[in-house]
Amino acid sequence: MAEAAPAVALLGITKRFPGLVANDSIDLDVRAGEIHALLGENGAGKSTLMNILTGIYQPDGGEIRMGGVRVRFASAADAIAAGIGMVHQHFKLIRAFTVAENIHLGWGETPFAVSAPTMEARTRALAETFGLDVRPEARVEDLSAGEQQRVEILRVLARGARVLILDEPTAVLTPGESARLLENLRAYAAAGRAVIFISHKLDEVLAVADRITVLRAGKCVATLEAAHCDKARLARLMVGRDLAPPARGRRARAVGEVLLALDGVSAQDDRGVPALRDVSLQLRAGEILAIAGVAGNGQRELTEVVTGLRRVSAGSIRLGGEAMAGCGPAAFLEAGVGHIPEDRLRTALAPSLGVAENAVLRGYFRPPCTRGGWFSPAGARGLARRIVGEAQVFVPNLRVPIRNLSGGNQQRLVARREMAVATRLLVAAYPTRGLDIGAIETLLRFIGEARDRGVGVLLISEELDEVLRVADRVAVLFKGRVMGVFPAAEADGERLGLLMGGQAEAA
Ligand SMILES: Nc1ncnc2c1ncn2[C@@H]1O[C@H](COP(=O)(O)OP(=O)(O)OP(=O)(O)O)[C@@H](O)[C@H]1O
Ligand SMILES: [Mg+2]
Repeated sequence: MAEAAPAVALLGITKRFPGLVANDSIDLDVRAGEIHALLGENGAGKSTLMNILTGIYQPDGGEIRMGGVRVRFASAADAIAAGIGMVHQHFKLIRAFTVAENIHLGWGETPFAVSAPTMEARTRALAETFGLDVRPEARVEDLSAGEQQRVEILRVLARGARVLILDEPTAVLTPGESARLLENLRAYAAAGRAVIFISHKLDEVLAVADRITVLRAGKCVATLEAAHCDKARLARLMVGRDLAPPARGRRARAVGEVLLALDGVSAQDDRGVPALRDVSLQLRAGEILAIAGVAGNGQRELTEVVTGLRRVSAGSIRLGGEAMAGCGPAAFLEAGVGHIPEDRLRTALAPSLGVAENAVLRGYFRPPCTRGGWFSPAGARGLARRIVGEAQVFVPNLRVPIRNLSGGNQQRLVARREMAVATRLLVAAYPTRGLDIGAIETLLRFIGEARDRGVGVLLISEELDEVLRVADRVAVLFKGRVMGVFPAAEADGERLGLLMGGQAEAA
């Protein structure tokens, strides 16, 4: 018996941008009932291929078939009408609207003249059905990255897409949330829909996918049954060679003076709710202090108070002995504090400006960008070129708008820029999010090298294995309080897990 035609087939898809071929004659077929993972290094062409399937980009060559029939999508609306839904790598929600309004916006099943309470009740019911925890009445701009991601997913699931595409959906989810999402995807596919799943987390991919397609530099290198794969083989296919085993960065030598001291710090979140409660922490020069905890327990506010982006409501912050609690971001920058923020595209980059401008964004007023009080375009270009090189980002030229870079390449650029700024303190929130496996190792090595030069590093992360590998000490945050601080050598996953869940240590 002939096999049924795949739910979607991409045949020989090619997409060129000025100076590069993002997709080079790629074939991909996805069956109904299947979860098909798409893997590849940062910039390999994954998001571009999916943007073609969803009608956002027009291919320069090749064709799309659904159920064996050739289709053409002139716009995203055409693809949605054909039953294709996509959760994008970068959030597309309307920030001034509530969660319920975003869910109902432009949806054929939104009742006419619907009231806010009705939309909220409908949203609550949907959230229940799909096991995604959202607050229907909250405004999107007040949500953490993880919460926004859940709303994006709910928005697409609610529309019942026959072909569901998720572009790195778990990058900003907690491990618990990710596990629930993967379960949901299995059920979703089992109901006869096709799911395309993009992720850099190989464990996740191996756990959930039926088949895996690997892209490298815009070309399809293999499509494999997940059951026949392991992590090493996938990594080799992605990068085209064997990866060096990860280095263990931790080192037990004496650290320097106290660099950053928080004493009884309290702060409120954007809604005026207490987010940090009486936090006291010390970070020494030449030390990596990791803040472990489930996102939403005060991490964002902590990074903001130590970079001048948020006022404290009580307590003191000292940097190298100097009181900083009333200072703004410029003073922290001046004091040698670099910041890799959680939401890079919104808070760390100017999306429509070029790579060069973004690379020097934080160095305009000092050498090499400024010489003798005057802006030096040549100096700025030189600095930009250095940062782009160190970040190992390929761009045809430095004028390319930053929003055209792949998600991982944007993150690489922010990380390298802020490391250049951080002559004394680096505040890094989830710095490996969105990076491919090779780039994660490179970044962790660079963070270790900064520490060895005497920089203090405050590392916010949910990736426990990463934390335990590079940090010198670990502090656990829960509901805005420090639950415990201890040497990383004495930490293990289980102990951390209990503290992260709010269980206090026995005295
Ligand atoms: N609109 C655009 N204009 C110019 N170049 C683009 C555009 N969109 C993507 N590119 C380039 O195409 C290449 C592939 O990008 P893409 O976003 O598809 O990568 P990716 O595989 O999704 O990577 P990541 O894992 O970092 O998300 C990159 O070099 C990127 O800079
Ligand atoms: Mg991408």
